[in-house]
Amino acid sequence: MTDRKKITLPTLQKKMADGVPITMITCYDYAMAHLVEQAEIDIVLVGDSLGMTMLGYEGTLPVTMDDMIRHTQAVRRGSPTSWLIGDMPYMSYQPSDETAVRNAGRFMAETGCDAVKLEGGRQMASRLKAIADAGIPVMGHLGLTPQSVSALGGFRVQGKGWEQALRIVEDAAILEQAGAFSILFEMIPDRVQHIITQRARIPIISLGSGPHAHGQLLIFHDMFGLYPRFKPKMAKVYGNAGEIILNGLKQYVAEVTGGQFPQPENWFGIGDDQIEELKHALNGRQPESTTEH
Ligand code: KIV
Repeated sequence: MTDRKKITLPTLQKKMADGVPITMITCYDYAMAHLVEQAEIDIVLVGDSLGMTMLGYEGTLPVTMDDMIRHTQAVRRGSPTSWLIGDMPYMSYQPSDETAVRNAGRFMAETGCDAVKLEGGRQMASRLKAIADAGIPVMGHLGLTPQSVSALGGFRVQGKGWEQALRIVEDAAILEQAGAFSILFEMIPDRVQHIITQRARIPIISLGSGPHAHGQLLIFHDMFGLYPRFKPKMAKVYGNAGEIILNGLKQYVAEVTGGQFPQPENWFGIGDDQIEELKHALNGRQPESTTEH
């Protein structure tokens, strides 16, 4: 693993104060989390994007609290020292403040995560405040908010016109006032992001919103060529793991078909005496199955 100390809220606040960029990534299972932990990434988000990346849905709306809990538990096991955020899925907080607090509490109690995240501006401020007032750190999410993609007219940049940008700037102040420990901005223009960062007193994280933030987020599957449906413009591909895995799978098929796999190092033997005893014990007994291997 790593001998890094646990990332805490003060760690993130100190980075912001010192002007040290905060790193953030999405992650959905134990094996990925183990890698993320070794890379010493600060914040790990178990996003409801797992509905698309791990479960194959077209969007995030079908994802349930139980899906999120299961994946967040796995990521916590693989990444014990990151600041781990559970993403509140569709309709786990929208219906009422009470629903929001109950589900945020489930995340904290059942997964060992450090915080939760929810989408939406002023209309979700009371949900965010209720969670923060319950003592649970909560991140806001503005700009492109995938749970409202239908109302937003698709996966597109938000805040390109000044009136919509003003609303986003105002929403940021409202969420900060409501008690958000940090706000994530997805796909807003870089100069709007800059204005927000200059005005904020909490860490601002950018996903496809330019460099003027206290930290950056990327989606794991976009970074490593693992999402087959599309590659967003904002994503940088750091390695094509999808291609490596596909080549390996094709080679495996070819080797099994051609008899090159397995080799002695891939199986387990038995001593001559033991196999002779076994044959002796079986001598005269009829095979129970006629299937030959
Ligand atoms: O679900 C997710 O991964 C997210 C990111 C797109 C920010 O919310």
